[in-house]
Amino acid sequence: MNDRSTNDRSDSTNGSGDRMTTPWGEHVLSRHPEDPRDRLRAWDASDEYLLGHLAERKVPLDGTVVVVGDRWGALVTALAAHRPVQITDSHLAREATRANLARAGAEPGSVRLLTTQDPPPDRVDVLLVRVPKSLALLEDQLLRLAPALHGGTVVVGTGMVKEIHTSTLRLFERIVGPTRTSLAVKKARLIFAEPDPALRRPANPWPLAYRLPDEIGPLAGRPVVNHAGVFCADRLDVGTRFFLRHLPDTRGVGRVVDLGCGNGVVGTAVALADPDAEVLFTDESFQAVASAEATYRANEVAGRAEFRVGDGLAGVPDGSVGLVLNNPPFHSHQATTDATAWRMFTGARRVLRPGGELWVVGNRHLGYHVKLRRLFGNSRLVAGDRKFVVLKAVKE
Ligand SMILES: C[S@@+](CC[C@H](N)C(=O)[O-])C[C@H]1O[C@@H](n2cnc3c(N)ncnc32)[C@H](O)[C@@H]1O
Repeated sequence: MNDRSTNDRSDSTNGSGDRMTTPWGEHVLSRHPEDPRDRLRAWDASDEYLLGHLAERKVPLDGTVVVVGDRWGALVTALAAHRPVQITDSHLAREATRANLARAGAEPGSVRLLTTQDPPPDRVDVLLVRVPKSLALLEDQLLRLAPALHGGTVVVGTGMVKEIHTSTLRLFERIVGPTRTSLAVKKARLIFAEPDPALRRPANPWPLAYRLPDEIGPLAGRPVVNHAGVFCADRLDVGTRFFLRHLPDTRGVGRVVDLGCGNGVVGTAVALADPDAEVLFTDESFQAVASAEATYRANEVAGRAEFRVGDGLAGVPDGSVGLVLNNPPFHSHQATTDATAWRMFTGARRVLRPGGELWVVGNRHLGYHVKLRRLFGNSRLVAGDRKFVVLKAVKE
């Protein structure tokens, strides 16, 4: 699926990023990982709108400036002289930010990079929010930051018009204070919220736990813990449900990877069925890996496990794994994720030992069998229904 906005498209053909012009200078920015075939820009009109507003209105960028949800580091790169703190859920965003800051010649340490799992700063004087795709993540982040706001904190949100809904504004109202929006410019909009120190805020509902339904057989009633923003945080995804019903017997296979683990329900199911299993849970989202660890611990599993935030299987040694389990993402950072699935499958082939297997669940129409055949030379249908297939490819 491809929901790129034309706004995101790069018209440049240079291979190492595009030039963003801001009131703070010109910056060459790129996403991470850079993909020369899929030239998507590392910023959009909502970043430009916010930066233009801060400069035009001479918003004082004094004290602690916090930037939440900066997609690829465009905002903190432009504002590096103000020593901002970036808070992100994404390993890819963080890597892009590091590269963009280095390219801009930012003084090392001038931007503090925090994850959504780190404690936020105690006091925030300027809060800039690039509205995330997940409303839940926005809710969680605003609630975590709210105690650090004061009557004088400047709060400005930004996003593309299609990303800002009544529910988004309601969250700012409920958690920060009176909220209004700007006119739309190049299909982007700003959100202005005035902190109200007397506001009675709701309790943070995240992380949220649910129990697996009866039809999951031996896993029925098992808890699944979800931090805000993880894939299918409030119920079991239908594809995952199908996968759980067709997981392989892992006895004797060696190391198992739950690749793109989300809340970790797949890897935890393996560990519950096979106490000798050694499972690596990995995801590019900090919220996901924290959820996977919480799910694993809540199930009091006996085996060995490792939890790692990273890009696909980067850092996993060649030939060290017996089984990779994967429900690939179909949206990522507003871009087509065919490329992510391909990188995940390529990584799986690299880390599998000869005879090792990659098991993939996906929507039937995504045609993953074509990719698997091209990479592995084989692909077998393990199970299928009207909507989903579970496929297996063996490393020869
Ligand atoms: C469809 S969800 C599957 C989650 C979980 N395995 C399940 O079945 O419920 C895909 C997961 O891939 C993760 N992901 C996306 N891009 C990634 C990347 N480059 N490296 C690792 N994980 C990634 C997403 O954060 C998301 O948790």
